Amino acid sequence: MAATCVIGLQWGDEAKGKIVDILTERHDIVVRYQGGANAGHTVVYGGQTFKLSLVPSGIFRPQVQCVIAGGVVLNPASLIGEIEGLKARGVKVGENLLISDRAHVIFPWHFEEDRLLDVQCTSGEAIGTTLRGIGPCYRDKVGRSHAIRLGDLYRDNFRDRIAQITAAKNQIFSSFKASDNIKLLDAAKIHAEYAGFAEKLKSHVADTTAFLLDSVESGKRLLFEGAQGSLLDIDHGTFPFVTSSNSSGVGVSSGSGVPGRHITKVVGIVKAYTTRVGGGPFPTEQDNATGQHIRDRGNEYGTVTKRPRRCGWFDAVAVRYTARLGGVDVLAVMLLDVLSQLPEIEVCTAYELDGRRIAHFPSHVDDLRRVRPIYETLPGWQTEISDLRRIADLPANARKYLDRLSQLVGRPVEVVSVGPDREQTMFV
Ligand code: GDP
Ligand code: IMO
Ligand code: MG
Repeated sequence: MAATCVIGLQWGDEAKGKIVDILTERHDIVVRYQGGANAGHTVVYGGQTFKLSLVPSGIFRPQVQCVIAGGVVLNPASLIGEIEGLKARGVKVGENLLISDRAHVIFPWHFEEDRLLDVQCTSGEAIGTTLRGIGPCYRDKVGRSHAIRLGDLYRDNFRDRIAQITAAKNQIFSSFKASDNIKLLDAAKIHAEYAGFAEKLKSHVADTTAFLLDSVESGKRLLFEGAQGSLLDIDHGTFPFVTSSNSSGVGVSSGSGVPGRHITKVVGIVKAYTTRVGGGPFPTEQDNATGQHIRDRGNEYGTVTKRPRRCGWFDAVAVRYTARLGGVDVLAVMLLDVLSQLPEIEVCTAYELDGRRIAHFPSHVDDLRRVRPIYETLPGWQTEISDLRRIADLPANARKYLDRLSQLVGRPVEVVSVGPDREQTMFV
């Protein structure tokens, strides 16, 4: 009985895909359990780059079983495109991919709602979602009456469900202004399209909750691949500037059905600095030449939406919080090479709020907006490190930087990454 979790400890894009791909070698099953095609996970090996949104990053080892569990919201068109793209590049995707019949399905109305409601529901600043229908699909899941799960696509009443829901959604859409450019939904067209998707995905669909419980109880080694980052968690993140699922460690059990008692190791993934895409407070943001330098060196543009990512210094207050929240055992520090040319590097060690120094991460977004980060300055190393393969070979200042991050977060560093490729990875 053993399960490992890979969890992002910042606002996403911490390079979870790279670590999952590497850790897959030591596991039997890799599981995506929340989020959807808002995720963009990158795996680089053998001179090839793969971008994955729904398919687990374990897919490149054909002997390993990949599972998309019930907590994921599924865009069938996007998943089919991804599977076909992988197959065209010689990656095996067959019985090695199971998809939960409990996963909720994203429909065209969810995309419309994502587009229409993001700008309207938060005062002033938009969440800046990925516009992949994620929030609206989770909203319908919780609301129940307008929800369709993957297993429902194979039932006799599927056509009727589509007719009922499109009628209800069209009634709501009719109340929007002409300038919102709403196209009313065509039930017959949507049914035909999704019946086609159902046929294509049929061989992968299974009760993954039962499969995972059987597997973990029979001693299989499970690897859980988190999507997004802990600060985007719907309950514990920077609400409302979050995603609509539990993207911190707390989501593993609800999303997969596997009890937390089976989890034996949690790997917290962090960048050596911080990035964020979309709206919301970001205390250590460097909206200046330093931020641009990091963006250029780290190629910090969204994997899914291509938006420039906001960049800033490592925030140890935030990561200490998310490491505790996720029950993190060890840290993987990624993209350390991006900081190589800086003469000095800042790390946020505490916040100041209303003239008082605080060490905790505020629960209310308005307080987080008002904090002033307190920085400690560390010397840079100003030599390239991408070709190094052992921690001992890193410049002394790079090792000091890692030690300080570890000390501030309160967790040991087990993995250090100095480039996108599988090979550009060091283990302590
Ligand atoms: P994920 O969503 O957490 O899987 O991360 P993304 O794939 O969205 O973003 C991480 C980006 O950093 C990808 O383009 C990776 O190829 C790249 N990457 C991963 N590790 C490193 C590293 O150590 N150094 C550099 N320079 N790039 C890295
Ligand atoms: P990976 O798995 C970074 C952000 C969006 C937006 C907010 C809500 O690649 O780390 P949503 O479409 O989920 O309703 O958008 O969450 N976001 C991500 N940011 N990485 C991701 O995934 C993200 N998935 C969603 O930018 O701010
Ligand atoms: Mg990403």
